[in-house]
Amino acid sequence: MARYGPEEHDVLIVGGGGAGLRAAIAVAETNPKLSIAVVSKVYPMRSHTVSAEGGAAAVIKPDDSLDDHAYDTISGGDWLCDQDAIEVFVKEAPEEMIQLEHWGCPWSREPNGSIAVRSFGGMKNKRTWFAADKTGFHMLHSMFQTTLKYEPIQRYDEFYVTSLLTDDGRCQGVVALELATGKIEPILAKSVIMCTGGCGKVFPFTTNANIKTGDGMAQAYRAGVPLKDMEFVQYHPTGLPFTGILITEAARAEGGHLLNKDGYRYLQDYDLGTPEDKPVLRSMELGPRDRLSQAFEKEKEKGRTLEGPYGHYVHLDVRHLGKEVVKERIPFVRELCRKYENIDPLHELIPVRPVVHYIMGGIHTDINGATPMDGLYAAGETACVSINGANRLGSNSLTELLVFGARVGKAAAEYASRSLSYSQQLEALAKDERKRIEKNFFSDNGTSTGTIADIRKEMHRAMENGAGIYRTEQSLSSSRDAILTLQDRLKRVRIQDNSFTFNTELIAALELSNMLDVAETIIQSALERTESRGSHQRIDYPDRNDDDFLTHSLAYRNPGDVPRIEYKPVTITKWPPGERKYGQQAETSNPQ
Ligand code: FUM
Repeated sequence: MARYGPEEHDVLIVGGGGAGLRAAIAVAETNPKLSIAVVSKVYPMRSHTVSAEGGAAAVIKPDDSLDDHAYDTISGGDWLCDQDAIEVFVKEAPEEMIQLEHWGCPWSREPNGSIAVRSFGGMKNKRTWFAADKTGFHMLHSMFQTTLKYEPIQRYDEFYVTSLLTDDGRCQGVVALELATGKIEPILAKSVIMCTGGCGKVFPFTTNANIKTGDGMAQAYRAGVPLKDMEFVQYHPTGLPFTGILITEAARAEGGHLLNKDGYRYLQDYDLGTPEDKPVLRSMELGPRDRLSQAFEKEKEKGRTLEGPYGHYVHLDVRHLGKEVVKERIPFVRELCRKYENIDPLHELIPVRPVVHYIMGGIHTDINGATPMDGLYAAGETACVSINGANRLGSNSLTELLVFGARVGKAAAEYASRSLSYSQQLEALAKDERKRIEKNFFSDNGTSTGTIADIRKEMHRAMENGAGIYRTEQSLSSSRDAILTLQDRLKRVRIQDNSFTFNTELIAALELSNMLDVAETIIQSALERTESRGSHQRIDYPDRNDDDFLTHSLAYRNPGDVPRIEYKPVTITKWPPGERKYGQQAETSNPQ
């Protein structure tokens, strides 16, 4: 792409996944005169949204209610969710889902032609819409093809954003590296929306694609914006042991069972109900993900899991569902098992283990996706708005990216419609960024103490051992020491590939530095939250402590030191803190 001076747009969106594309459409619809850039390190259809499987939650059936959806989400999140954000979320969700159908999303149907919904973990009613078990693929396609009809949307595919351009306390664009040429240039914009997804690759076993390296979170954090609730990392209970590939919760929603090494449905031993529970919603395999992953760890301690080359695992049994159900409702599960495990789940048990799937935390935003920095917005997994609290319920995140993608697009468009001028310094700041990258990665910075791969492997070990499903002060402190050392070691890594064309080694180094920054916020927020809540379980502080910790953590960058953690109260509207109950004890209606 030939360029003459800095590129400039009204609204710039970083990330071409579900949140980014939904935001782009919202900007175009809010003000058709605005020019819009979607800058993505991969071609949009390769964004991680494409791999979402099980479905997206929204109230549609007459026996369901918005209050029930809100309550399930709040109790599932162990009361750390902002209830004003949840009220907006559940209310705007159905409309977004219907609109997506009009854009071409082929939602699965009931025999009578109405939208089909399935149950999902922690939800007391069936409300998860799905397109077989390739929901993300169809959603992303529908949005991508819709963006094509808006002329003002210009794409920068395979451009890697290295930093935000900020001056006068305002975000005014980004610096981006064009992968094909190696050019590092500014792209100016009046408002910037971060839609860069999560950071699962900070951990070794994850359902997340390789691209999910927390780039947007790290860049906002380095620009002075706090990361909220980063201690809350979700393990999905059913990933394949080696690859971490997701075996969707839909397999359990359709009736799959989790069995320990003795063939026993062990979840009945963990306050999650019994096999006799009727209805099965919010019971046993349809309990929330934090509880199921913690139950796995307890089974492991009792010596009741199996052990293979990639660690401990249990079995998911879908054999009794029969060929028709598997073919129609979860065909992708069968495809994945055949390809990656060489087993046929119609006849064999599927080995599964908890794997990192999602981070509840992210860039601190308000209900419209605005961050504390003027001109900077965020939505989707990279943001924390916060509807997911201490544990997200399965199938809420695809809906979240629609609802908050639309809201953030509107807010960023309104901001960019004002008359705003750019600072004079931006070109100089972009040059500094280019020099920083050259100095950090292409010059001799002392004796190298390992390769990018070595450092990444050690980061994985530190995070899995110290900041996994169960944590202690000691485990977290030793992870913190390890991460500090690794940050230092990365400064001395020299890139061997000097080319300007598709320099994947450089991208891996930049991603690693982002992951290490994100890792430090996860650890410090976890160290300072001396209670157990949702996905954050401290063996040394086993109880939830609402007196001191019904608050969001905010991690601020503190150059040369560990992050500074501040707190912000949770917004409660109608649902005072209560006990989380599953199985037969679970409320059948919303106990407001
Ligand atoms: O299991 C799943 O299909 C995952 C869904 C989700 O994380 O929302």
